[in-house]
Amino acid sequence: MAMMKHPSFIPLLLMVLYYSTSTLAQSPAAAPAPAPSTPPTDIIRILKKAGGFTTLIRLLQTTQVSTQINSQLLNSNGGLTLFAPNDNAFSSLKPGLLNSLSDQQKNELIQFHLLPTFVSTTNFDTLSNPVRTQAGENPDRLALNVTSSGNQVNFTTGIVNATLGGTVYSDHQLAVYQVDKVLLPRDFFVAKPPAPAPAPAKTKASKKKSAEGPAAVAADNDSAAISVKQLHGTIVSIAVASVAVAAFLL
Ligand SMILES: *[C@@H]1O[C@H](CO)[C@@H](O)[C@H](O)[C@H]1NC(C)=O
Ligand SMILES: *[C@@H]1O[C@H](CO)[C@@H](O)[C@H](O)[C@H]1NC(C)=O
Ligand SMILES: *[C@@H]1O[C@H](CO)[C@@H](O)[C@H](O)[C@H]1NC(C)=O
Ligand SMILES: *[C@@H]1O[C@H](CO)[C@@H](O)[C@H](O)[C@H]1NC(C)=O
Repeated sequence: MAMMKHPSFIPLLLMVLYYSTSTLAQSPAAAPAPAPSTPPTDIIRILKKAGGFTTLIRLLQTTQVSTQINSQLLNSNGGLTLFAPNDNAFSSLKPGLLNSLSDQQKNELIQFHLLPTFVSTTNFDTLSNPVRTQAGENPDRLALNVTSSGNQVNFTTGIVNATLGGTVYSDHQLAVYQVDKVLLPRDFFVAKPPAPAPAPAKTKASKKKSAEGPAAVAADNDSAAISVKQLHGTIVSIAVASVAVAAFLL
């Protein structure tokens, strides 16, 4: 009797064996597939979901700053903060202002709304003025001052006073806050300082002079080199352009 039971066990055993080996064989191949637990952050998707940011989305796309933001979020640990003017804020701009901006100014405008750090709603009072934006450091032309008291956060650029409206998005790496005005930097409104760049003939002479002067000493110090070369209009615009290109590539 016991011997008769055996044969019926064999197919069962084979089935169990087959099942377990086939799942074993599958699992190493299947494992890498569901690797990224969360999809990468997409600033455009966030703004679209929130609604009311059509103009900002268009600007982010045409300047390609949206791509820059998404890749910054993948690569930076400090996070990012975006002040997001909604469509009402853009429509209260002087008519034609946005269209009058060059591509470079549009890029600067968006960078001016970006802080290279994550700022939580309770951390605004820890910022020191003028706050460093991604548009660069120039206290006269690119100042963004923040004052906060309780729940209220105000901004001034010297041109525009704005108020923080509310949190659009926050994930401890990226914070997006609505602002009721477009933060226009003074840079767009004050005359460029008269270019001190001398005539081509003179440039050669001053080049020779500065080669022995502080410019030569500062040559291997990027930040000092830029401020010294600010005297030479042409060089500084090249520096600014390459910083802008660098920012783009980030
Ligand atoms: C922010 O600005 C408003 C006026 O727009 C003012 O009433 C308020 O006191 C300001 N708050 C802070 C913290 O500066
Ligand atoms: C911003 O704050 C700095 C430091 O307090 C001040 O010197 C500057 O005048 C302020 N700029 C504006 C536009 O409010
Ligand atoms: C911004 O607010 C300051 C005082 O808080 C005021 O002096 C200035 O005129 C305001 N600027 C604009 C453009 O409203
Ligand atoms: C570079 O320049 C910065 C700012 O001007 C200065 O603080 C720093 O000491 C300089 N470093 C060197 C190595 O000269």
